[in-house]
Amino acid sequence: MIRLSNKKILLCITGGIAAYKTPELTRIFKKNGADVRIIMTQSAKEFVAPLSLQAVSGNQIHYSLLDEEAELGMGHIELAKWADVILIAPCTAESISRLAQGRANDLMSAVILASDADLFIAPAMNVKMWNDKVTQKNVKTLSLKNINFIGPDSGEQACGDIGDGRMSQPDDIAMTIAKSFSSSFLQGKKILITAGPTQEAIDPVRYLSNNSSGKMGYALAEAAYLAGANVQLVSGPVSIKKFDGVNLYKVKTADEMLKIIKTLINDDDIDIFIGCAAVADFKPVDYKNSKIKKTDDTEISILLTKNPDILKYAADNMTDKIVIGFSAETDNIIENAKLKLKSKKLDMIICNDVSNSEIGFDSDDNEVYLITNDTEQLLAKTSKIKIAKKILQNIQPLIN
Ligand code: PMT
Repeated sequence: MIRLSNKKILLCITGGIAAYKTPELTRIFKKNGADVRIIMTQSAKEFVAPLSLQAVSGNQIHYSLLDEEAELGMGHIELAKWADVILIAPCTAESISRLAQGRANDLMSAVILASDADLFIAPAMNVKMWNDKVTQKNVKTLSLKNINFIGPDSGEQACGDIGDGRMSQPDDIAMTIAKSFSSSFLQGKKILITAGPTQEAIDPVRYLSNNSSGKMGYALAEAAYLAGANVQLVSGPVSIKKFDGVNLYKVKTADEMLKIIKTLINDDDIDIFIGCAAVADFKPVDYKNSKIKKTDDTEISILLTKNPDILKYAADNMTDKIVIGFSAETDNIIENAKLKLKSKKLDMIICNDVSNSEIGFDSDDNEVYLITNDTEQLLAKTSKIKIAKKILQNIQPLIN
């Protein structure tokens, strides 16, 4: 049983006889819930009918960097960003060589160069071509760039030779891709994540809040669950759905959030805390039980008082565990984040520039700096789920 629900797989087909297996491979991906888009090189079209692949994938096939119509539908950069995983199957010796050189003069190589999706290659070629020194050097170059190879299998080849070079079976390729989504480096770890805004009531119909959608925190919860963690997600009011398997606690105010956090930290032996919520820094001193009436006055004042600092509570009470904060700033984002890292004694702070409407609050993408006492690393703009995966991969070395 393989799980690929909602996974976005970009299948690149190059020109080899094993291309005849790609409709079956596409069918397996679709049957298991994946969304599949396909790029075919010019020579791939000689081995398998594009129309068959279009029918089985349910999507238009992409061929060329210079196809205006296709670029209007989903251009190569969108395709690069869309994919969770890129798979080249079958991948010829020529394509391996071009990728090792970092070429970008056709649609497949340009998309791959522009994407930060995990890349898998299922080679298919004659045994002598596979064993050739240059091919093996290219395979090594690509492996050093963390590109994953599936196969090749050994056996009788289409040309009659026997040995390594057959493309792996579609079932095995699909299983390898599925496993890549459920790597379990957080197995046995308990993670507590806060997400979304808080709402601080002024009267029964009004409140103070902010633009947090919860997308970043919910993406972290999903990625942590898929990495094997037991995930507790404490969320302010948002309109998105939690990932199945994540334990959700809904709150409205910072006080309610702190109350649940205290219980979970004290009773639940949490290993990692990530404060992604945009907790309101202030709340009204007095909650009015009745709706505040409009009068002739042109100004009214609402006296505010500071909310509790939830992240600081976690850092003070989880001294032998990992505590990570987010920093939402519009100016001097790195300097300000470093001040929070030090003052709250955090293991890491993740800072985003919330003056840019394409990242940060309520956007599907984010771009963040990961800052520890010794390191500083940029995770370039991409989807929040990919950013979440990368954040967790960078937390892994902090876990003892
Ligand atoms: O939800 P999205 O629309 O996806 O947007 C994501 C995000 C922009 C909200 C997220 O990426 C982010 O930056 N979250 C932190 C927002 C924030 O409150 O930042 P801050 O710099 O004001 O606070 C610093 C840290 O202290 C944060 O970890 C915050 O959770 C925590 N904090 C702040 C105040 C408070 N009273 N208690 C806290 O725990």
